[in-house]
Amino acid sequence: MISRRGILAAAAMSMLAAAATPSCGAGHVSLSAAAGRSSRFFGTAVRFSQLASDPAYADLIVRECSSLTPELELKWAAVEPSRGALSLTALDDIVSFARMHGKKVYGHTLLWDKSVPDWAVDSLLAGDWTYLQLYISSVVPRLSGVVDYWDVVNEPIETGQRLDGLRENVFLKGFGPDYIRRALETARTFQPTAKLLINEYGLEYDFEVEEHRRYHLLRLLERLKAASVPLDGVGLQSHLDLRKGHVSSGRIARFLDDIAQLGLEIVITELDVHEADFIADPNIRDQAVADEVRRYLDIVLQQKAVVGVSTWGLSDRYSWLDLSAEDLASYQNAWTDGTGPGLNRGLPFDADLRPKKMYRAMLEALSAG
Ligand code: XIL
Repeated sequence: MISRRGILAAAAMSMLAAAATPSCGAGHVSLSAAAGRSSRFFGTAVRFSQLASDPAYADLIVRECSSLTPELELKWAAVEPSRGALSLTALDDIVSFARMHGKKVYGHTLLWDKSVPDWAVDSLLAGDWTYLQLYISSVVPRLSGVVDYWDVVNEPIETGQRLDGLRENVFLKGFGPDYIRRALETARTFQPTAKLLINEYGLEYDFEVEEHRRYHLLRLLERLKAASVPLDGVGLQSHLDLRKGHVSSGRIARFLDDIAQLGLEIVITELDVHEADFIADPNIRDQAVADEVRRYLDIVLQQKAVVGVSTWGLSDRYSWLDLSAEDLASYQNAWTDGTGPGLNRGLPFDADLRPKKMYRAMLEALSAG
């Protein structure tokens, strides 16, 4: 059900956005058009508050994306801040916006230990599935038709905790390792056709810890497939990080191949780049970001099982990787004028919504893919 308020808000925004649109040449190829050449989607995470308050940004998203991931609005803690009091307006608004502009919504995310409302923790720990079931049954059918992909379980893997590599989160503590099967089956009950995914991070580099994460995720996928659990794919968050060096092309290619061999689809769900050097000239910073993204996309887009790419935000104006107050303090001597950039430049558009080298790298990689 779509709220009337949501539709009106989206319509008003759309008009505002059109009025604020900088003209961008008749030959402009968007990231979604480039991705579409290989039948992939391109999207970004966004908050409804950004769409509502920033028409130029809303317009950029409409122009470049075919899919929108609610950054917060679908998470359990946002949907049900207090027990039984569902708060679905922000979700409905983002869905109305997407529908109005012919976009898909990427369903992020149902089970994530970092988005469990405080009030639900004790009942989960006591093995009570009722509230989780209620939340899933409230959001999943509501988004029927507009969501093709659901991140049903987010971040189930952690090393150094258990032999099976499963994260000791509140779900595991309450229900044991079987919570993953149960979550996927519950989602399937309310959504017979959309693809159901597990979404995970920390899988791109040639470090022992990331090798272990790849290993444990693959074993989990194998177990679920062997048990005929309704799992259709894997989301790879892909938060690249220049502090870690370069992504390992060889490891990634093999890992993706192993996933594809299981008959699973792959989505790049949260691509962005954490910078290592915030003091260098912006051109140098942007080149380092772009090179890394190109290296990564050139590998993943060779894999046919990769069906879509989303970034975690489109512009540095709204990056979740902005420097913290502590980071800023540690850099304070680097800027003589006292202002300092303070922004992480790891998204395709800068804070003024101008395309950066990362945008160009993505466009080229997606066009070639
Ligand atoms: C992040 C949001 O961007 C933040 O605003 C919020 O405070 C925490 O969640 N992996 C995920 C996303 O799967 O849901 C996270 O989003 C970023 C890391």
